[in-house]
Amino acid sequence: MKETMLNDFSTYFGEGRDVEVFFAPGRVNLIGEHTDYNGGHVFPCALTIGTYAAVRKRTDNKLRFLSMNFNNKAIIESDLNDLKPSEEAGWTNYPKGVMWAFAERGMKMDCGLDMLIYGNIPNGSGLSSSASLEVLTGLVIKSLYGFDKVTMVDLALIGQYSENHFNGCNCGIMDQFASAMGKKDHAIFLDTSDLTYEYAPVKLEGAKIVITNSKVKHSLVDSAYNERRQQCEKALSDLQAEMDIDGLGDLSEEEFEHYQNSIADPVCRRRAKHAVYENQRTIKAVKALEKGDITLFGELMNQSHNSLRDDYEVSCDEVDFLVDEARKIEGVIGTRITGGGFGGCTVSIVKDGAIDEFQKVIGEKYLAEVGHDAEFYVVEIGDGAHAL
Ligand code: GLA
Repeated sequence: MKETMLNDFSTYFGEGRDVEVFFAPGRVNLIGEHTDYNGGHVFPCALTIGTYAAVRKRTDNKLRFLSMNFNNKAIIESDLNDLKPSEEAGWTNYPKGVMWAFAERGMKMDCGLDMLIYGNIPNGSGLSSSASLEVLTGLVIKSLYGFDKVTMVDLALIGQYSENHFNGCNCGIMDQFASAMGKKDHAIFLDTSDLTYEYAPVKLEGAKIVITNSKVKHSLVDSAYNERRQQCEKALSDLQAEMDIDGLGDLSEEEFEHYQNSIADPVCRRRAKHAVYENQRTIKAVKALEKGDITLFGELMNQSHNSLRDDYEVSCDEVDFLVDEARKIEGVIGTRITGGGFGGCTVSIVKDGAIDEFQKVIGEKYLAEVGHDAEFYVVEIGDGAHAL
């Protein structure tokens, strides 16, 4: 991939030295959904698909971006002194947001750059193509402009900050953290209340992780996401009148049951219930994996989906169909929606011997039911962002 990126770079930006190539992966979350902005735990892993950049510093302040993912191969130009989000800027709002976030932290780039991008995460799949682009840009800036003290965790935080304040999605830290900190063959057990984490080997004796892409993305994803977050904040503030907690992740299931009536609004109460139970499920799931109890891990994944569907209401008919059909197949250990929701992908643990049937049967039924194909990816867990 490095050669291709370098060749494409010289085709569109001209020959020359000092071109560097970087990669940042997408992620899939195994369990712990909508817990990361509630001070709870998540358990994502980095994928081997992601976003690549070939970059070279300029001598002026211009920023010139080109994506190999679009047919027209048009260079989108901007300027370091004009780091404001705009509709015309399209996808370049993501790298520009990260440049802005660096500057906000006192790390101004001293010249512009030419940046050629290529991504192989399917569009709108909920596998974090935007987070990977943010972390990628952060790594580019850190490496090319000599900001050596910036750590990979900082890159995740800067990416999240830019998404929150430049691109208008009030996301948590999970996606950027997984893209920056991923480790081959491991998932990251991250406590989002203080960013402590452990790597857990993903050993699924005789089974694999399979992602199924529904290839639907319902509109208003960002606004529905932001609304869920506000509902959790409302529930938290009601609970805080009764007890001393910093986030919903501080509560055990028993405490939630005891205090839940202090949450005035029934919808906010259901959202909070999901956040509390999902956090506890994540902790239990990681313990189960450590003990090699894949069956329990799968059961907790199934419970996670039901809660996201019924209490958090972030699933949709197409994704529920994929989950329901997957559950009918022998050899499916667990299956759930993954990521922000309202479309996107499911993640399933499937026994090796059932993977072909899984793809065939669900593929055919999905096409007949929904009218377009689903896509399947058997997951390889990769490393976090790095130079090539
Ligand atoms: C999106 C957000 C994450 C997280 C998930 C839901 O992917 O970017 O921060 O909240 O949704 O778990």
